[in-house]
Amino acid sequence: MAQASVTRRYRFCAAHRLHTDHLSPEENWAAFGKCNNPNGHGHNYIVLVTMKSGAPAAAGRVLDLNRLDRIVTEQVVSRFDHRDLNRDPEFADCTTTGENLVLLIWDLLVKHLPSGQLEKVGLIETRDNYFEYAGGVGKVE
Ligand code: NI
Repeated sequence: MAQASVTRRYRFCAAHRLHTDHLSPEENWAAFGKCNNPNGHGHNYIVLVTMKSGAPAAAGRVLDLNRLDRIVTEQVVSRFDHRDLNRDPEFADCTTTGENLVLLIWDLLVKHLPSGQLEKVGLIETRDNYFEYAGGVGKVE
């Protein structure tokens, strides 16, 4: 049975600094470059949430986009918008890379959505940086 997907776009602005206490200052600079700047920097993040439509075309739309909007706003946008990501408890022991952030967003959303309906989460961090996660293996620290 053919099944299409629906992608909704959300956005938030947040600050972060790529840094880990597991590395020396020199190693942090080597790993993260100017993103290790002690004063941090900001991004206009775009989150792309892709859901399985859940029904063949003839049956009409089953997916409740208003509910999806509410869940993403509550779980992701409100949590991160105009915040410092490095202060989020989930990032106490892991670096605020795009990879880790997209995994966290998946984890925050998947438990609030109907089982099996979340297909993929995408995260645009900069003009040239895009991260995505489609479930599977556990969170990478
Ligand atoms: Ni950055």
